[in-house]
Amino acid sequence: MKHFINLKDIPSRDLRKIIVDAKKRKKKRKKLNTLEPDKGSPLKGKMLVQMFEKASSRTRISFYLAIKQLGGGTLTLRSNELHLGQGGETIADTAKILSTYGDGFMLRTDDDKKIEDFQKHLKIPIINGLSPSSHPTQVLSDIFTVEEIKKKPISKLKICWIGDSNNVLDSLIAASVKFSFRLSIGCPKKFAPGKKVKDWVIKNKKKIFIYHDPKKAAMDADVIFSDKVISLNDKVNKKRKKQHFQKFKIKKEIFNYTKKNCIFLHCLPRGDEVEESVFLGKNSHVWQQALNRVHVQKSILLYCFGKLR
Ligand code: CP
Ligand code: NVA
Repeated sequence: MKHFINLKDIPSRDLRKIIVDAKKRKKKRKKLNTLEPDKGSPLKGKMLVQMFEKASSRTRISFYLAIKQLGGGTLTLRSNELHLGQGGETIADTAKILSTYGDGFMLRTDDDKKIEDFQKHLKIPIINGLSPSSHPTQVLSDIFTVEEIKKKPISKLKICWIGDSNNVLDSLIAASVKFSFRLSIGCPKKFAPGKKVKDWVIKNKKKIFIYHDPKKAAMDADVIFSDKVISLNDKVNKKRKKQHFQKFKIKKEIFNYTKKNCIFLHCLPRGDEVEESVFLGKNSHVWQQALNRVHVQKSILLYCFGKLR
């Protein structure tokens, strides 16, 4: 049994194996309908319980499809429907119950500590479906999308992030170390990556490049990533934070600085950090990116259930 909590704690070879498996599975099911299981139904009879403390569209639907396509099923819960969410039951007891009924647990939470606590008490694998410090299923799937479109290993590409230093960026930074790609970040000084994540990069003898000018960050890039300036439950003065990001709004002109075939990716949902003409423009592959969540999460589930070939 393996957990999937933070990319930084998962060996690079396992992450690569997940991507390779996802690629094979995606190719093989081209002729199958949405809910038809993959050949052999490798997770037949298994149930994934997913619990959301925050809103989600993509993560909940893509995990539903992922386990279905492996022959299993899912139950989706909002934490406030449980005794746990009402303050009437502990994580320890809830974890025991989840382990009694279910085979895997996916949690989207406001609190990294909750994932740790669940991990301690669960007898089934836990998957981080977004926490304040990380969005690992999103970013691993994004690596898959980049390689699918660019037809090259990501280590040969220049990746740029323009936006807030949030959970998605933290996972992208972890991925830059695990997959050895060059990552340049364009963000306001006040919203640059924190010391903890920078120290971890240094400890791993790698480098990230931080610029406070979006054009410098985008120079020669093969991929530009972005995300909302205001994340779910971001407890900041929203108006003031958005002002800091004004000159980081992604406009068509940014592609004058990148490589010619630079692509644009965004995990969604979007805010006003990117112009419509970019988001819906020819460089954008955001819908393919969202779809690939299904394919990569299937291989993540197989990894967690000890069934990755
Ligand atoms: N990208 C992503 O995780 O979307 P949701 O918040 O809709 O799940
Ligand atoms: N950074 C965003 C990602 C949403 C998928 C958030 O945490 O809200």
